Amino acid sequence: MTGKARRAKKRKSEVEVRQMTLEDLPEVWRLSEKIFTPSQLQFTYRTWNINELLSLFQEDPELCLVAEDVNSRKIVGFAIGTILRRPFSPWTYGYFVWAGVKKMRRRQGVGKRLYRELEKRFKEKGARIAIVDVEGTNQAGMRFMEKLGFKQNQTYIWFSKLLD
Ligand SMILES: CC(C)(COP(=O)(O)OP(=O)(O)OC[C@H]1O[C@@H](n2cnc3c(N)ncnc32)[C@H](O)[C@@H]1OP(=O)(O)O)[C@@H](O)C(=O)NCCC(=O)NCCS
Repeated sequence: MTGKARRAKKRKSEVEVRQMTLEDLPEVWRLSEKIFTPSQLQFTYRTWNINELLSLFQEDPELCLVAEDVNSRKIVGFAIGTILRRPFSPWTYGYFVWAGVKKMRRRQGVGKRLYRELEKRFKEKGARIAIVDVEGTNQAGMRFMEKLGFKQNQTYIWFSKLLD
């Protein structure tokens, strides 16, 4: 890689990870629609919708994060989590529910930075275990989760049926 290309890559990766605001919601939604497509992530596409985004944001905005390009001020990624508590149990889980990074900005550490911040917030809220689910066909998603330190994967099977 030439010095110029390296500098361009570095510039591109300048992002700030911060908490999502109400004003960010339309942009996050538009970005998610480009990422969670039925051709690439079928079940993710089926289960992701605007109410999901709104209800998770309403539930705990501190667990809704965006990665913003510091130059263009455009959102290039997001990560959303929630806390799962079990009544009468000391175990509290940080559920890493959704993550997406703009195609052109992948493999530059954006997803990892988003998750690190989310995990920090999970711990601050008392979570002792982080959990996540990924479609079995989503190789990039699985490699990503492994890289973040998720282990002990179990298979959970989705069925679908056409209702006529
Ligand atoms: C999964 C996703 C969020 C990762 O975001 P990202 O910003 O590209 O991730 P990072 O650059 O932080 O990658 C961290 C590590 O994860 C692994 N990884 C990420 N993408 C990978 C890929 N396509 N193939 C193999 N490993 C990958 C690598 O080990 C990478 O480290 P490296 O680049 O130093 O080798 C992004 O690919 C995406 O938006 N995918 C579509 C949506 C999705 O699958 N979301 C998760 C389920 S909701």
